[in-house]
Amino acid sequence: MTLTTERLVLRHWTEADAESLYEYAKDPDVGPVAGWNPHKNVEESLEVIKSVFTGAECYAVCERETNRAIGAVELKLNGYTDMTEREDECELGYWLGKPFWGRGYIPEAAAELLRRAFEDLGMTTVWCGYYEGNSKSKRVQEKLGFIYHHTCNEVPVPLLNEIRTGHTSYMTREQWLSGRGL
Ligand SMILES: CC(C)(COP(=O)(O)OP(=O)(O)OC[C@H]1O[C@@H](n2cnc3c(N)ncnc32)[C@H](O)[C@@H]1OP(=O)(O)O)[C@@H](O)C(=O)NCCC(=O)NCCS
Repeated sequence: MTLTTERLVLRHWTEADAESLYEYAKDPDVGPVAGWNPHKNVEESLEVIKSVFTGAECYAVCERETNRAIGAVELKLNGYTDMTEREDECELGYWLGKPFWGRGYIPEAAAELLRRAFEDLGMTTVWCGYYEGNSKSKRVQEKLGFIYHHTCNEVPVPLLNEIRTGHTSYMTREQWLSGRGL
């Protein structure tokens, strides 16, 4: 499955993406705010591609001109998210290489994943979260039209062995349709 937007291609990860994944995932400004450690070497990035970026709805974010992986967007389906136990709900996750921040790439990619969730996959609700202090991710969720749902003061962050405050927001199919003027 490959999805396209005005400026981006969203496609599944391949082992050939390990070098570019490492280039952006080694940045200490990217992973830790999202709950994972910076990658230490290309081998670790390759392992992540083989064992983590395997979800049916996990996509590499690529600029159309280059098809090079510069970030990730994913709909985490039931069984791969702790935000829901329903088959018709999922969680949106994303990150982007720092050189590409501020161009609206993730809102553009995530908008297409919302269309995929509601139109192609029959989802009724998409959940999304961010940890306290991650104003950039909060802003992405606001721009996409997510609605604040709740805050949890003691969210375990297993990969970093930390406890953080997490804010959760959601979008229903009805909200999504009305945001499109339908
Ligand atoms: C959050 C993230 C995915 C946003 O992606 P993006 O494509 O840059 O999104 P946008 O271009 O819409 O920018 C979102 C906000 O980030 C801030 N921002 C953008 N570029 C920035 C930069 N270079 N430096 C600091 N802040 C910046 C702005 O507040 C912007 O909001 P605005 O459009 O109202 O000005 C990206 O910053 C990222 O990967 N961060 C680290 C990982 C992460 O937080 N993942 C989400 C975990 S919940």
